[in-house]
Amino acid sequence: MRTGLQGKTALITGASRGIGKAIAHALAGEGANVVLSSRRQEALDEAAAEIRAASPGVGVLAKAAHVGDRDQAIACVDAAVTEFGGLDVLVNNAGTSPYFGPMADIEPAAAAKTVEVNQFAVVQWTQLAWRASLRERGGAIVNIASVGGLVTEHGIGYYNATKAAVIHLSRQFAMELAPRVRVNCIAPGLVKTALARALWEDNEEQIAKYTPLGRIGVPEDIASAAVFLAGDTASWMTGQTLVVDGGATIRPAIA
Ligand SMILES: NC(=O)c1ccc[n+]([C@@H]2O[C@H](COP(=O)([O-])OP(=O)(O)OC[C@H]3O[C@@H](n4cnc5c(N)ncnc54)[C@H](OP(=O)(O)O)[C@@H]3O)[C@@H](O)[C@H]2O)c1
Repeated sequence: MRTGLQGKTALITGASRGIGKAIAHALAGEGANVVLSSRRQEALDEAAAEIRAASPGVGVLAKAAHVGDRDQAIACVDAAVTEFGGLDVLVNNAGTSPYFGPMADIEPAAAAKTVEVNQFAVVQWTQLAWRASLRERGGAIVNIASVGGLVTEHGIGYYNATKAAVIHLSRQFAMELAPRVRVNCIAPGLVKTALARALWEDNEEQIAKYTPLGRIGVPEDIASAAVFLAGDTASWMTGQTLVVDGGATIRPAIA
């Protein structure tokens, strides 16, 4: 089955590297125009050049925005609509994990930043994309949560709480925006990116050993799931969370 993404326009937050960049590459590979956003324009311009080289036929726009800054978010969505005439797909991917430690000790500033970037940004960008275009054109939203939103873990409990919120926000928006817009969520396991470096850097072999599919994730593992959910391939799916984790969450409790 075809994704039907050719000629569509997708906006991806956190697209300068890691999972977001891989998603942008994969959507462009399906023939979609892509709008890349994250905070640093220079890094975005580099990612845009890579995508143009790999998928020469599509439109690529790079527009910097802090996902928590409402004015910058509005400017980014407006730029996408001006450049391509509208939006069909929004991927809420930008994420942060500024604190490692017990949830009992997190400081208010770190908690507020985690909520702003991981949780409220999903609400804000969804509102803006809906009002600017998706309400009229229909489309799909893919939110990047985490398997951490489904389980408990040491060290990243507060980050995980915001990811649990993303899972619920996806269900709530799916209900509110149906039938025009489908809203689904991906819960990745451990993926080899800068964000999760502290979790895998000195630990890769052990992680591979305890992951049923025998390796840590790579951004492309998540990108193919995002293409599936954004495309017609998932046309009768909304409000769902797709776990993509190499089987990590089906590990037996006692080996
Ligand atoms: N890697 C994993 O193991 C894993 C597992 C589960 C879920 N996830 C989720 O996957 C998503 C992508 O993470 P990743 O692993 O690909 O991380 P990454 O490689 O560190 O990339 C994060 C991206 O988000 C951007 N970003 C960070 N803060 C931002 C902000 N305030 N406003 C706008 N953009 C911002 C970064 O660019 P700038 O710094 O230039 O802004 C970058 O483009 C996140 O939501 C993360 O929570 C990751």
